[in-house]
Amino acid sequence: MNSVEPLVWTFETASEAETENLGRDLADCLTPGVALLLSGDLGCGKSVLARGVLWGLGVADDCITSPTFTLVNPYDSGRLPAAHFDLYRLSAPEELELVGVEEYVDGRGVVIVEWPERGEGEFFGAVIRVNLEDLPGNPQGRRLVFSAVEPLSRECLHVFGEHNAGKGLRGGSGVSA
Ligand SMILES: Nc1ncnc2c1ncn2[C@@H]1O[C@H](COP(=O)(O)OP(=O)(O)OP(=O)(O)O)[C@@H](O)[C@H]1O
Ligand SMILES: [Mg+2]
Repeated sequence: MNSVEPLVWTFETASEAETENLGRDLADCLTPGVALLLSGDLGCGKSVLARGVLWGLGVADDCITSPTFTLVNPYDSGRLPAAHFDLYRLSAPEELELVGVEEYVDGRGVVIVEWPERGEGEFFGAVIRVNLEDLPGNPQGRRLVFSAVEPLSRECLHVFGEHNAGKGLRGGSGVSA
């Protein structure tokens, strides 16, 4: 048996700004080669979290645009190279090849993927999965569950979780394997 229990951290945010701030803090903990796979329903806050991560990496706000129609937007102005994917409109896996996915998963930078389920198989290895969901009864409330298995991504998540544990965000709790 070589299955490893994932490291999991859960946070709840009460506003868009709190989710952005979580993204900024996560950016500080990222190392080259890590992919953030952001899952959740339409409008749950994936792009908000992605924007926070890009800000945290040092990308200027006015450079950040939505990859909804381009599938991917690359950024070279931050602390690390970053590529932000949105696969919602991916119609066939071959489309990912056309946008040159390999050049972004080369281990030099950070990859952020919305709707990763639609490009399953392309993003693996040093992955931090983030599942976002609405909190019942609070239109501004979101629960974000971060998990990682592979050692590099696990270390990033460990640093992020420990750093944020004392920040007073509701629901922050860690389960280490
Ligand atoms: N706590 C919160 N965190 C993040 N966004 C929030 C929060 N509360 C309210 N919102 C709102 O929810 C919306 C999230 O939109 P966003 O574009 O990030 O969703 P998404 O998951 O990327 O959707 P899509 O699947 O369409 O790309 C924004 O309008 C934002 O203002
Ligand atoms: Mg989005």
